[in-house]
Amino acid sequence: MTQRFSYQLQSTDGQARQGIVHTPRGDIRTPAFMPVGTAATVKAMMPSSVRETGADILLGNTYHLMLRPTAERIASLGGLHRFMNWDGPILTDSGGFQVMSLAELRKLTEEGVSFRSHIDGSRHMLTPERSMEIQRLLGSDIVMCFDECPALPADRARLESSMQLSMRWAQRSRDAFGDRPGHALFGIQQGGDDEELRGQSAEALRAIEFDGYAVGGLAVGEGQEIMFRVLDYAPAMLPTDKPRYLMGVGKPDDLVGAVKRGIDMFDCVLPSRSGRTGQAFTARGVVNIKNARHQDDPRPLEEGCPCPACSGYSRAYLHHVFRAKEIISSMLLTWHNLTYYQRLMADMRAAIAEQKFAEFEAKFHAGRAQGDV
Ligand code: GUN
Ligand code: ZN
Repeated sequence: MTQRFSYQLQSTDGQARQGIVHTPRGDIRTPAFMPVGTAATVKAMMPSSVRETGADILLGNTYHLMLRPTAERIASLGGLHRFMNWDGPILTDSGGFQVMSLAELRKLTEEGVSFRSHIDGSRHMLTPERSMEIQRLLGSDIVMCFDECPALPADRARLESSMQLSMRWAQRSRDAFGDRPGHALFGIQQGGDDEELRGQSAEALRAIEFDGYAVGGLAVGEGQEIMFRVLDYAPAMLPTDKPRYLMGVGKPDDLVGAVKRGIDMFDCVLPSRSGRTGQAFTARGVVNIKNARHQDDPRPLEEGCPCPACSGYSRAYLHHVFRAKEIISSMLLTWHNLTYYQRLMADMRAAIAEQKFAEFEAKFHAGRAQGDV
């Protein structure tokens, strides 16, 4: 019998939670960070290497994969796991958010969104039903509802009508998803920075019932202060016995602040994208490896980091290959950054289990206050 999808809450410290999401493709230790594999690859990394950094689950994107190579092609080749050679769980975003940020000539109606591909200009339509079909063809383990997400700041009328549309789409997503044992469907809370709308959205989603609940509509230009203000109330509006996923977040200090406020799952392109632009995340903050002060530095990027960039190379070497635009630069810095993110999550899980999240947080901020030395 297929193992069911379930969430096991193991310990709490204040609002912070530590647990395990069980899936037929393996466990996800939470709080969890999901590396982004938009185009069926975590750029510059082999899947086995992504796994070595400590990742339990990857994120894929409906929008990109439907355009290229198409969901039907991936299905005929055995599904996304086989196609990209990753056998762990995969969560796919529904396309709603990416259409609004990437596609051209978008037209939003009650039915869905029609748009032109940013790749070749071809015309497409995404609806809740089509998004569920694509995510099924991909073989996604955690399917996201099709939603709409306005940029902030937005006026209340816009936030309200958009949230209500997303809640109607959430019901259509639920209906179209059907009953798929071993696969999960997550609802997405919207409502911007309006507490009342966040409450109405949570109520609508809870009435439909999902396997997990995302906080959407954040990290869309509002800044950390407003995001944390929303996270002071939004997670508590969602069921305690299901995982809570903050979409598209974030910087290391965003993750720490969000875990403190009750979030269990994250995804962000930041560690992988920054690895390709020469920015390294370390306990002492962001290091710009292109800076000339690294050119004669024999020390590892980060003392004690087990990744290949830190165990085998100097800052001088990482500086050199970045400047020389060598491919290994992207590989090593991405590996380091994903390792940093996964170690951060592991440290937070351990701190919550030991009821020492406050101590962890103080140490985290103290290390960064030192600056890059
Ligand atoms: N990624 C970041 N934010 C969002 C959101 O609000 N909705 C979806 N579907 N994806 C996101
Ligand atoms: Zn490292």
